[in-house]
Amino acid sequence: MNLTSELKPFNSFGIEAKALSIAFVDSQESLFQQWRYAKDKQLPVLLLGGGSNVLFVEDFAGLVIINLLKGLQVTEDDEYWHVHVQAGENWHQLIETLLDKGIYGAENLALIPGCVGSAPIQNIGAYGVELKDICEYVDVLSLENGLVTRLTANECQFGYRDSIFKHEYQYGYVIVSVGLKLSKTWSPQLTYGDLALLDPKVVTPKQVFDSVCQTRRSKLPDPAVTGNAGSFFKNPVISAEKAQKIKAIYPNCPQYEQADGNIKLAAGWLIDQCNLKGYEVGGAAVHTRQALVLINKQQATGQDIANLAKHVRHTVAERFGIDLEPEVRFIGKMGEVNAVDYIR
Ligand code: FAD
Ligand code: EPU
Repeated sequence: MNLTSELKPFNSFGIEAKALSIAFVDSQESLFQQWRYAKDKQLPVLLLGGGSNVLFVEDFAGLVIINLLKGLQVTEDDEYWHVHVQAGENWHQLIETLLDKGIYGAENLALIPGCVGSAPIQNIGAYGVELKDICEYVDVLSLENGLVTRLTANECQFGYRDSIFKHEYQYGYVIVSVGLKLSKTWSPQLTYGDLALLDPKVVTPKQVFDSVCQTRRSKLPDPAVTGNAGSFFKNPVISAEKAQKIKAIYPNCPQYEQADGNIKLAAGWLIDQCNLKGYEVGGAAVHTRQALVLINKQQATGQDIANLAKHVRHTVAERFGIDLEPEVRFIGKMGEVNAVDYIR
């Protein structure tokens, strides 16, 4: 099989993988047609938005469909703005557009790369806000019958970096649009990091937006300059009992209590404690400013990144007895592969 289509421009790690072909779709009809075409030829299909949460560990022997569904409609009632957005819109541009229109509540999620249609999949989150806090519904196209179904936010089963789109609705469905519900009475979310320095009585949405962008730019590498996919691993959630034991040995270990009593740890802190900042495997490295981010330092292959992830996972497991789980989705020759198994 002759794989000639370059995937480097379509993944934020900048990995030099190839696919059999790439199709750009700007309507539900063409999306459905492309999928049918691939199925008739018995080819695997990979749907991509911005490619900012994927790692190609091999060339992909099938059709990559890149989502370019565009459009935005805003309606209102007395209390809320209702924003209906097509899946191929850029997430950060959407937030800028909403700010310009005087629609607030999404600014903590500024500068997260990727498309609107990918946001519900891992329930994107940052600086004290998750997509679930502003999501009203998600529309999904069934690739079996071409019909669109609307799932309410509740039906999406959002959790920390999780949703129904990683489970029951992972295969055979495409997110085609997302509905957001934003209150006309803005209340700033200023709990996280530097945001706590802002005065809630006088702060404006634009100031929150600027602060979030500034913090992110200071910590996270820009994928246009240095290939990466944001946090490589999820923050582990452990029992309160286990967390207490760790705290007794490492009093500075950041711990965040969850609604169910479990404790979330900072994977970046765990990796940092293992002195892995700057550690390299092939062309891949642990970022020197944020240990949770793995970077393509110098023409890394997908294997380099995966091997580095394996080393990080083993080192953290040995030191703390905690198994890190990748947030990034691993893509092999025929489609997604189990990332935990891949680096076990
Ligand atoms: P892609 O990488 O294109 O796709 C991700 C997965 O979703 C793939 O499995 C793909 O097949 C599937 N998919 C894509 N589109 C659809 C669709 N329409 N329907 C069904 N399946 C689909 N994430 C956070 O939560 N918080 C952060 O703060 C954050 N910061 C980041 C910072 C940087 C610098 C980078 C590079 C990434 C960061 N991320 C963060 C991760 C990433 O931005 C999000 O996961 C984002 O939602 C991915 O969007 P995407 O369009 O690039 O998805
Ligand atoms: N820390 C270190 N060393 C490091 C990195 C972090 O000690 O090298 C410590 C920090 O000092 C802090 C704690 O770990 O006490 C948490 O770090 P940070 O605030 O940078 O956040 P994070 O837990 O590493 C999470 C999300 C990010 C999101 C930020 C802000 C996950 C997996 N990651 O990172 O999301 O932007 O919080 O809310 O939940 C992403 O998912 O791709 C992503 C970037």
